[in-house]
Amino acid sequence: MSMAIDVALSAIRQLIGDQHVVAGDDTAGFVVDWTGRYVGSTPAVVRPGTTSEVAGVIHICREHAIAVVPQGGNTGMVGGSVPLNGEIVVSLQRLTSIGEVDELALQVTAEAGVTIEQLQTAAAASGLRYGVDFGGRGSATVGGTIATNAGGLNVLRHGMTRSQLIGIEVVLGTGEVIDLMSGLVKNNTGYSIPDMMCGSEGTLGVITKARLRLIPQQAFRHTALLAFDTIEAAVEATARLRIALPGLEAAELMLSQGVQLVCDEFELSPPLDLGFPVFLLVESASDDDALDDFVQHVSELAGVVDTALAADERQRQLLWRLRDDHTTAINRVGVPHKFDVTLPHDRLAEFTKAVQHHIAASAPEASTWMFGHVGDGNLHVNITGLTGDDFLDRSIYELVISMNGSISAEHGVGTAKAKYLPLQRSTAELQLMRGLKSVCDPDGILNPAVIFS
Ligand code: FAD
Ligand code: MLT
Ligand code: ZN
Repeated sequence: MSMAIDVALSAIRQLIGDQHVVAGDDTAGFVVDWTGRYVGSTPAVVRPGTTSEVAGVIHICREHAIAVVPQGGNTGMVGGSVPLNGEIVVSLQRLTSIGEVDELALQVTAEAGVTIEQLQTAAAASGLRYGVDFGGRGSATVGGTIATNAGGLNVLRHGMTRSQLIGIEVVLGTGEVIDLMSGLVKNNTGYSIPDMMCGSEGTLGVITKARLRLIPQQAFRHTALLAFDTIEAAVEATARLRIALPGLEAAELMLSQGVQLVCDEFELSPPLDLGFPVFLLVESASDDDALDDFVQHVSELAGVVDTALAADERQRQLLWRLRDDHTTAINRVGVPHKFDVTLPHDRLAEFTKAVQHHIAASAPEASTWMFGHVGDGNLHVNITGLTGDDFLDRSIYELVISMNGSISAEHGVGTAKAKYLPLQRSTAELQLMRGLKSVCDPDGILNPAVIFS
């Protein structure tokens, strides 16, 4: 360990307490990402317990020119949350307080380390809920989801994390604290700093607290699994349902191989014949019981070849497991190589065929698993069993861009896509982004390997 790190860690120990600085074998869970693909090492994981301790840690690191990686639940998918270049990890997991739900404003204040599940539980006690939700809810944190602008299962109705974010408290790379927690929904007083921090992936500041929008719970949920012969038909059906059902909250695309894998791995019985190639999990929420309406619209959809309707909450949970457990099931097959991309809706089906064909031709030894948030044009292409690591990346991203898509839909750029960002963003855009980075983090100590290569 270098002298500078030694001196800095001893100052940090004094500031936050010896017991909150973790080193050696105890750092194991903080240096490997959720997929197992990104493995780093760190001199220490530091766990400040307050905003002023976070600011103090950043001041000390800046003074000694030490790079840091902010970390929440470490569920990120693009290698941004782990210290791949020996950085110090600043874990936000001790910042866990949730304020009273503000039932007048429909807002809540939550610290960065609160998990999405804890946030949902707090909101539910007031008959409310948080608009962003996904399978990683038990570990993913408020800070991490803001840093990545996480999307998830309900974006088509409620938007991504940025749409839920009203205010933020953030420690810049200078150690200064920016407090924008007034909760004012309308506040056009110059540039929007919360919007800028959202999706900045820990490169501009360490988020310590947020003011978040909540939405009313709705009493009735209707959920169905629909089978199709083609992806085109599933994309078309999603569009029809969005028009017919204003309460449509989710439209999740799955393929039979993925559903089969989940059923095999978790010993579940498929509710439909998995001989059909394409499935759509749809869910609608409403205040009144709109079951008849839901069934009518679903059954009238062109292209549906079979339907399983959830008759009760247990069946609904089973349908959702088929979708939510894709990520875990694929991880069990092998370390996945993940591509999280968006396509214009009218190119989605064409892309799925082109990318499958490309992978099969270039890496016949590999398996491809695809699923996604079809209402948002967002596909998750996972490859397991790839020999060699990232030789397919460039060609797949070029394919996405040639179809006017985005190489990062909801997971972010992280370290995984940093070198491909110039494929997507112009020189002027990258200069503007670098300019912001140099103002917020003049010494480049915050996630130096993330977003910019
Ligand atoms: P981490 O993984 O710890 O960090 C992610 C990034 O944010 C890193 O760059 C890190 O440096 C930075 N960061 C973390 N905390 C802070 C902070 N307080 N301040 C500044 N920077 C910070 N994502 C989706 O968008 N949609 C999904 O549907 C979805 N489903 C998932 C399902 C599963 C089963 C899993 C495991 C993951 C899923 N993810 C999904 C990915 C992941 O959960 C999200 O990217 C999430 O936002 C990461 O939150 P985290 O707290 O784990 O952040
Ligand atoms: C999901 O939608 O389940 C996620 O974004 C995680 C993944 O891509 O595996
Ligand atoms: Zn997703």
